[in-house]
Amino acid sequence: MKKFISKFAAAAAILICCVYCAGISKTPSKGKTLKDAYKNDFLIGTALNTTQIEEKDPKAAALILQQFSAVTPENIMKAEIIHPEWDRYNFDLADKLVAYGNKNKIKVNGHTLIWHSQLPAFARRIKDVDSFKTFFNNHITTVASRYNGKIFSWDVVNEALNEDGTMRKSLFLDKLGDNFVTEAFRLAEKASPKTELYYNDYNNEQPKKREGCITLIKKIQAAGVRIDGVGIQGHWHLGHIPFKEIEESILAYHALGLKVMFTELDIEMLPRNFQGADVNQRQASNPALNPYANGIPDSVLQQQANDYANLFKLFLKHKDKVTRVTFWGVNDGQSWLNGWPVPGRTNYPLLFDRAFQPKPAYFAVMALKK
Ligand code: G3I
Repeated sequence: MKKFISKFAAAAAILICCVYCAGISKTPSKGKTLKDAYKNDFLIGTALNTTQIEEKDPKAAALILQQFSAVTPENIMKAEIIHPEWDRYNFDLADKLVAYGNKNKIKVNGHTLIWHSQLPAFARRIKDVDSFKTFFNNHITTVASRYNGKIFSWDVVNEALNEDGTMRKSLFLDKLGDNFVTEAFRLAEKASPKTELYYNDYNNEQPKKREGCITLIKKIQAAGVRIDGVGIQGHWHLGHIPFKEIEESILAYHALGLKVMFTELDIEMLPRNFQGADVNQRQASNPALNPYANGIPDSVLQQQANDYANLFKLFLKHKDKVTRVTFWGVNDGQSWLNGWPVPGRTNYPLLFDRAFQPKPAYFAVMALKK
């Protein structure tokens, strides 16, 4: 009897394992994944949250290793988390991310050294310019030098511009003046000579903001300071992808000698009354803004598949200029767009659904590499 039970248990275990692995391996063509299909074109990345960095979600863990060749931390390398007190840094999760990248031969893009949002409380309280300058210097030098040659790249400065291309009002602009971006790159270059350095923003494919971004980049270059690339975040809206402006931007930024990356790609599937990704913007909750709480029609997912396929056609057309395409999350369930700008919505902006299954958009993007 005991022998029969153990044989039955073993058979059951194997069966469960097969069913489980069958779930993950339902990718389109045998063995080919996003990172394999595009390996000769550009890196395919994703944003990782804490659970994923700590590999606490087995389904996510398997999918990430299967599909992606680059990762960006969604939050854990931001100043608020990595530098919570004046003279205390919290490198635990960032060190885990670097170890994860090395173990799995996945490139890590650090996000982000200088950003007006998610600043630590002590920094927001600093009144005098000299102390703020000391915070600025210490933060960049300490964090960037720790990961010198250990991570592939940094978003040195994130979202320093307004929609009209002028400098965004921030503690950095107020305390340090509009040369703070160049100084941030100068400090990062000194602290991290083996790491690529990027400027990152949203809507910097739009003509006015692009002009402001080009002015900023030329200022850094004119100061003899290294900048290797520019990130266009790519938080776009279903049916409203600015393809013409995107192509103009790839050409314009590449003409400055820079690598071009799409760094936080997602396609918003729900209504909202403004473009962009300004985290400080909010919109009041209302059922009309959450139309797919119980599922989304295939026809809408097909529209998304067309938008993603046309985006990747453009990236492939300029694969000599585009070096990375990173999705802002692994699957729909993780996306920040479930909570912004309206809390508690059910959004579908990425290539994998809440069960980590590939969506029509995934097959459309893969079909380009058949
Ligand atoms: O960790 C705390 C948790 O302890 C607390 O219980 C919970 C409830 O308030 O908040 C958690 O912190 C949240 C954090 O994400 C981690 O989940 C913050 O409230 C929330 O504001 C933060 O949102 C992040 C947002 O940046 C903040 O600005 C999103 O996850 C992240 O996707 C988003 O990413 C930005 C890029 O960095 C820059 N470009 C735009 C992009 C989207 O806003």
